[in-house]
Formats: sequence, C-alpha cells, structure tokens
Amino acid sequence: MKLLTPLLLLLSLTAAIDLNIDDKASIKAAAARMAAKLRELYPRGQPWFNPGEFGILPSTTGKNIGYYWWEGGAAMGAWIDYWFITKDDQYNAIVTEALLHQVGPDNDYQPPNQTLSLGNDDQAFWGIAVLAAAEKGYPDPPPDKPQWLALAQAVFNRQVVRWDTEFCGGGLRWQVFRSNQGYNYKNSISNGLLFQIGARLARYTGNQTYADLAKRTYDWQKTIGLTNTTNYYVYDGAHVPDCVVTSKVQWSYNAGTLLAGAAAMYDYYSADLLNPPLTAQATLGNQPSMDFWQNETMNLLRGIDMPFFNMNDGLPNIMRESGCESSPRDNFARPPTCNIDQRSFKAYLSRFMGYTHQLCPFTRDYIMARLRPSAIAAAKACTGQPGGDTCGLSWLMGKYDGAPYGVVVGGVGEHMATMELFQTLLIGDAAPLKTMKTGTSKGDPAAGTGSGTVGDLRQTGPTTVGDRAGAGILTVVTAVGIVALSAWLVWP
Ligand SMILES: *[C@@H]1O[C@H](CO)[C@@H](O)[C@H](O)[C@H]1NC(C)=O
Ligand SMILES: *[C@@H]1O[C@H](CO)[C@@H](O)[C@H](O)[C@H]1NC(C)=O
Ligand SMILES: *[C@@H]1O[C@H](CO)[C@@H](O)[C@H](O)[C@H]1NC(C)=O
Ligand SMILES: *[C@@H]1O[C@H](CO)[C@@H](O)[C@H](O)[C@H]1NC(C)=O
Repeated sequence: MKLLTPLLLLLSLTAAIDLNIDDKASIKAAAARMAAKLRELYPRGQPWFNPGEFGILPSTTGKNIGYYWWEGGAAMGAWIDYWFITKDDQYNAIVTEALLHQVGPDNDYQPPNQTLSLGNDDQAFWGIAVLAAAEKGYPDPPPDKPQWLALAQAVFNRQVVRWDTEFCGGGLRWQVFRSNQGYNYKNSISNGLLFQIGARLARYTGNQTYADLAKRTYDWQKTIGLTNTTNYYVYDGAHVPDCVVTSKVQWSYNAGTLLAGAAAMYDYYSADLLNPPLTAQATLGNQPSMDFWQNETMNLLRGIDMPFFNMNDGLPNIMRESGCESSPRDNFARPPTCNIDQRSFKAYLSRFMGYTHQLCPFTRDYIMARLRPSAIAAAKACTGQPGGDTCGLSWLMGKYDGAPYGVVVGGVGEHMATMELFQTLLIGDAAPLKTMKTGTSKGDPAAGTGSGTVGDLRQTGPTTVGDRAGAGILTVVTAVGIVALSAWLVWP
C-alpha cells in the first residue's frame, strides 16, 4: 500500500489529454477540459473581457500587454459553440453577461471605451458571436435587453455604410478612425467578416438585400486581388491609395471567414429540407447561384490545404498557422513569431470549418479528414504545466512546445483553438442551424442605423493621414461632426 501511493500520485499528475478520436465521450471530455482551461484564464469576479480586465499581465519588456477586446468576443463565440455542440451550459451565464455588457449605449458593439481603437474586424467578432447565438438557439436575453439577431443586424448596418468607394473601387477599411494605424489598409478580415455576416443574415432572415451586399464584398475581394482566383489563397490586405496587395501573408482566419460565408450563401440558395426555405430563391432552388456557391466553397476549402495543412511538408492534414508557427521543414528550428492575436487564429478556422460542415454536406468528408488528424496531434501538444494539460501552440510537434515561450501573458489563443478543434469533431451530431422560421431571436432590420450616442463613426472628407498612428493628434470625427482632440497625445 505504502509503495503504491507515490505511484498513484504520479499517475494522477500525468494529466495529458487522452483523446480517443473514435469515442464521442472522449472527444467531449477533451473539449470540456479545454473549456475549463479557458475559464481559468478568465479573471475571477469579472465575467467579461476587455483590456484591463481579462488577463492583462506585465510582459517581459515591462510594458503592459493584454488581450485585445475583440478576442473576448471571439471567446464568447467559442463558448456558444461549446454549449451548442456538447450541451454543457455551465459557461452560459458568463457568456450572456459578457455579450450584453459590451453592446455599448447604441446596442451595436461600439462601447465608448473601445471606439477610439475600433477596427471593423473587432466589432465583427462580437457580431458573429451573437449571430451564432441566434442561429444555434442559444437562450435569448430578457425582453428588456437587446436581442441577438438585432445586435448582429446593428453591426452589419454600422459597417455597410463604411463601404468606401474613394479607393480600390470599394471595400471596408480596417480601422474606423482615420487617426488610427491601419486606416489606410483594406484587409481580408474586415471585408471577410462583413461578407460572412451579410451571408449569414441573408440565410437567417431570407432578406435578399443582405445576400446582394455580401456578394458585392466577396466579388470585391477577388477584383482587388485579396482572393487569388487561381488557387483561392487569401492574402492579408492592400493599402490605399494604390490598392496593390503588398502583404501576401496568409492567415488561417482570413480564409476561414470567406469559407463560412460561402457556405452560408450556398445554404441560402439551396432548398434545404431540414431548414424550411424562407425565400422564393431557395424554394425554387436557384440553381446557378447554388452551383456558384458550391464551387466557391470547395475552391476555398482546397485553397487552405497548402498554406494551413502542410501538404508540401510531409505532415499533411495537421493544421498549422504557417504565417508565424515553427515549420517542420527545418525541424521546428525557428521559434514561432505568433503574436497574442495570431495564437488564436486556428480556433476560427476550426469553427468556420465546422459551420461549413453543417451547411454543406458535400464538404463533410473533406473537412473531417483534416480535423481528425489535427485533433490527434493537438491532444499530444497538451501536456504542459501547470496541470499537465496546458496546450502548446504547435500541433505538429507531437509534444508540448513550451507556449507561450517565456512571454508572461498567453494561453487564451492556444486553448481556444484546441477547444474549437475538439468540439468541432462532434458537429455532425449538432442540431440544424435555425432560421427566422425555426428560431426565436428577435430582429430589427433598422438596428444600428440611427446617429446614436457615438454616431455611426462614418468617415467623411479626403484621407490625409497615413499609417502614422498613435502619434500626433488623434482626430475623431463622428457622424454628428464632433471633433475631439485628445490632449494626452502630443507631437513627438
Ligand atoms: C469599458 O466599458 C465597459 C462598459 O461598456 C465597462 O464595464 C468597463 O469597465 C470599461 N473598461 C475600461 C477598461 O474602461
Ligand atoms: C432587408 O434588409 C435591408 C437592409 O438592412 C433593410 O433595409 C430592409 O428593411 C430589410 N427588409 C425586410 C423585409 O426586413
Ligand atoms: C495567384 O496564384 C498564382 C498561382 O500560384 C500566381 O501565379 C499568381 O501570381 C497569384 N496572383 C496574385 C495576384 O497574387
Ligand atoms: C462550377 O465549377 C464547374 C467546374 O469547374 C464549372 O464547370 C461550372 O461552370 C461552375 N459553375 C458555376 C455556376 O460557377
């Protein structure tokens, strides 16, 4: 007996994720472990996520770094999927609280303390969280609170008026404010999410206007060269005024965002018997549009193989954020360079592949053939301390890789990614996504169209400020024409 005790202790400390890929209970348990890890990284007593409240810790350089606000919205979306797929509702209370806490005075995910640094993509990550809540039948807020569908419509309406035809023949700029770095950048994540939200709203509401605006964004991506029409690689962005795609780096969430949007468009135009068709288009089965989006969905899916599934590197079908992770080509000799945002990107590719799997039966085998090997590899990467189940960033190395690599802050991205990957393996058993006919969430097509407290943040007048961000005078132009000068910033 006495000899056995240390041995048992040792065994109980070896807490690696023991994933049996063919056993649903084992997959669910692995996802639950990751959901709990994510919760551990969420500050106690502060059930919402924004700078200063979620995981802000001193970095090794002595500066305070933390998670950006958008990643809170991303985490809420991840937990909504977790609930939807596993039916474990233990995080719902904090998710609902966070989603409602951040709506801002105009119920459009432009809370005043975020608007100065607001990127369209930041707002959109909260938008897709509430859109998922509507589609997945997540419990509705009390009637005196803003409702999921209306919130998503507000985000769409706020963004669609920022469509900028001054340069590049259209497109959304990354940043909302001209004083911010990135205002002169039109990027795939902002435009991809506008496309995706439009496509999902079309699918959910049956309103053709959303589909038309979504298609406009999707086409623009191709015209400008952000989506390569040969191989469907999705590049990061282009600067105004020349609109040349200078940054050809590929991030998995860019491609995944377009993929899920294409899947929603396919479903919108197809007569899906599980989801009663809402529109004449769908009822009749709009064959050319359906064929088009089926093609595009497959094209985008094939496009992610080379950059994100290591087709050329001898380790096929294991997801890798190739823009910043270590590479099997040099036996992982170069350390990863992924920043705090990029560590979470595989979460969204996993999520968006799951969404596509639900709506597009023709993708199912293809998607699972990539997610299953990724999950087997990821489980082996979750053996770090503390707890013996801390996950690394790389899923390819067959072991914990030491993430977050000496930087004090970290972990949310790594664990969100692994959680979304594990739970998506069970997507085949999930309930069909709802539409306005089958769902309960209340909408408001006019949400987010008023001038509101902080205005619609539309920019007016010619662009004069370049990438000079953070320096100089921060000029805030709201729709009502108020110019606010921030006194604390001075010329360098
Ligand atoms: C930001 O605003 C929210 C309310 O929308 C508030 O709860 C939160 O404390 C604010 N955060 C900071 C860092 O000021
Ligand atoms: C369809 O969406 C557009 C754009 O948001 C909106 O103006 C219109 O009122 C909507 N139509 C219906 C019937 O809801
Ligand atoms: C698209 O991909 C093809 C094939 O790799 C390449 O030749 C072409 O230069 C790419 N186009 C753009 C605009 O990057
Ligand atoms: C879909 O792709 C096939 C094969 O490349 C092509 O023949 C067909 O014209 C495409 N359909 C549409 C509607 O784009």
